[in-house]
Amino acid sequence: MPLASRSYSYGLRDLTVAFAFTISVKLVVTSVICIPVYRSIHETFVPVSFCPKRKAVPISQSPLLQLRIHHHLVNPTTVATYNLKVNGKIRRVDVDPATPLLWVLRDHLDLSGTKYGCGVAQCGACTVHLDGTAVRSCQLPVSVVGKGAVTTIEGLAATAGSASLHPVQKAWLDHDVAQCGYCQAGQIMSAASLLNTTPNPSDADIEAAMSSNICRCGTYLRIKDAIKSAAKK
Ligand code: FES
Ligand code: FES
Repeated sequence: MPLASRSYSYGLRDLTVAFAFTISVKLVVTSVICIPVYRSIHETFVPVSFCPKRKAVPISQSPLLQLRIHHHLVNPTTVATYNLKVNGKIRRVDVDPATPLLWVLRDHLDLSGTKYGCGVAQCGACTVHLDGTAVRSCQLPVSVVGKGAVTTIEGLAATAGSASLHPVQKAWLDHDVAQCGYCQAGQIMSAASLLNTTPNPSDADIEAAMSSNICRCGTYLRIKDAIKSAAKK
């Protein structure tokens, strides 16, 4: 066949086969190589050390997965009933067991003081207490809370026997800590948890306890002063 006629010999069928082959190769590479590599990287950098029941916590809760969890809230496929102890009261919720506690508090119990920041246990905005210990509620599935006592910023004052403010909250006001305020509920919950276990923390104790609470406004120095002041009361 002359060279000139050969160059026109690729028909629609050939192009379709080539396209299908390319897509198949990409699918195989993505599923066999990319997804396992992504998961191993993600699992390396998403710690679950803030969860007291770490074995029960799924370690790959990406923002994409959280969108899927939201989808389940709207179109529930699996729903279980939980009687959670939140701020001293038993609250019943019917939710997907994988739902992070953060969304149960905010979307089902209207406790919106707990904030969503990163969704991957890196910023501390979602910090609440479980039996007095600071945990990242964005990484704590509701199914692992069990009979634990959950305290949010709304119920913190009551844990100190106050109807208005916890000593840490008072110190925050005295030192005029907050700027935009978005991170501050989480900062206060972490600080209160620190003082529960270490009533007179050193600078190093404060830095260690607060190092994973991020403040984009840079209020760290005032936070440290406020914690020291709360510790003296
Ligand atoms: S939202 Fe939970 S740590 Fe950032
Ligand atoms: S006060 Fe704005 S993020 Fe902390």
